Amino acid sequence: MSTSTPTLRAPSPLRGTVRVPGDKSIGHRALLIGALCDGPVAVTGLSDGEDNRSSARILGQMGVRIERDASQPGHAIVHGVGLDGLRPPSEPLDCGNSGTTMRLILGILAGQTFEATLIGDHSLSRRPMRRVLDPLRQMGLTVLSARDQNYAPLTVRGRRPLLAIHYASPIASAQVKSAVLLAGLWADGETTVTEPAGMTSRDHTERMLAALGRPPHACPIHVPGDLSSAAFLWGAALLVPGSDVTVASVGTNPTRTGFLDALAAMGATVTHTHAHASGGEPVADVNVRHSSLRGAMIRGELALRALDELPLLATLAARADGPTEIRDAEELRVKESDRIAQTAAMLRSFGVPVDEHPDGMTIHGDPARALTAGRVDADGDHRIAMCGSLLALIAPRGTELIGAQTIATSFPSFHRALVDLGCTED
Ligand code: S3P
Repeated sequence: MSTSTPTLRAPSPLRGTVRVPGDKSIGHRALLIGALCDGPVAVTGLSDGEDNRSSARILGQMGVRIERDASQPGHAIVHGVGLDGLRPPSEPLDCGNSGTTMRLILGILAGQTFEATLIGDHSLSRRPMRRVLDPLRQMGLTVLSARDQNYAPLTVRGRRPLLAIHYASPIASAQVKSAVLLAGLWADGETTVTEPAGMTSRDHTERMLAALGRPPHACPIHVPGDLSSAAFLWGAALLVPGSDVTVASVGTNPTRTGFLDALAAMGATVTHTHAHASGGEPVADVNVRHSSLRGAMIRGELALRALDELPLLATLAARADGPTEIRDAEELRVKESDRIAQTAAMLRSFGVPVDEHPDGMTIHGDPARALTAGRVDADGDHRIAMCGSLLALIAPRGTELIGAQTIATSFPSFHRALVDLGCTED
């Protein structure tokens, strides 16, 4: 049931250095690809957010033992069963809120000879799956049932070997790309995926498969801090005057850093230090200082590289000088919620004028505008809940946040990180 959560306030500038949970995208891949390795894989930096737990849980249902030690947060041993070792699940595989879990496991199920049923929560059950079912069918997956041919619950059966394909994906989607590449592990030749010209979605699957080899060989995997979680703390620094926030050891893969590039274009001061590589992924400490922002145009590959942070950029754009236009982001309509409609509704409830477009929105920013107390219904979307929490820091008292418990999907320590930086409970 959705409940209203108390909001935080920022009585003084936010300052400090904090860490965030491990990258959610890389964590899914560490679990799913680790499960296919030929022995135990030691994973460090793994998030204990609910989405990564969904991947761990469904692997457990197929016979993969995953050990976690409460005294060592972020550590897990994934007992890889190899490409031939998954066992048929006796119950439906519940992917919870996690689109990545459902789409990537479909790629893996394509290469299994057993039948499996996939289910998800209310939000996941309205997200399109045909985008992965279509190429996987070409490779040999049988879809025994899918609600309206497109949505969970889904029942599928794979085969072995699969047919290798060269898939020209009509959309730039890392989940589609990853599902096909994972299925390719059981295919009778080389499988490749291309994306629309000039668009490269996040490439964590390619990096991890290249590092582990084919068939994947057990080696330790370190998951860097999640840029998509860190973004909310940098966002808080940009909303609260005088703030100066560093997030240590955060992943800075260039397919993910559109948010930081957009911030720089809006006039923010962003500094990287201690840049290094960790397990095939770039990592750095990243500092953001409160700065006056100006409106910007965010489209094309910049919008793709900032994908999950676009609602947050729209939120920050409310305090920028002049309009910010976000385009080429129609994919936001099929995320955990319709993030264009939800972000626009959230911003309007704080008194910020927004024009909605089919593929984005224009936010009419004004740093001097007096906000009103907002009313945010997260509707199963963790990132909308976090955007509302940030504006509540600087809006008049009385913001209502409904369904904020969904924040635990990706960033269970969000509230605590803000308190560590100087926020107080209302
Ligand atoms: C993800 C890919 C993106 C992103 C999602 C995580 C991944 O989705 O929005 O939060 O881990 O592959 P799409 O690839 O469907 O655009």
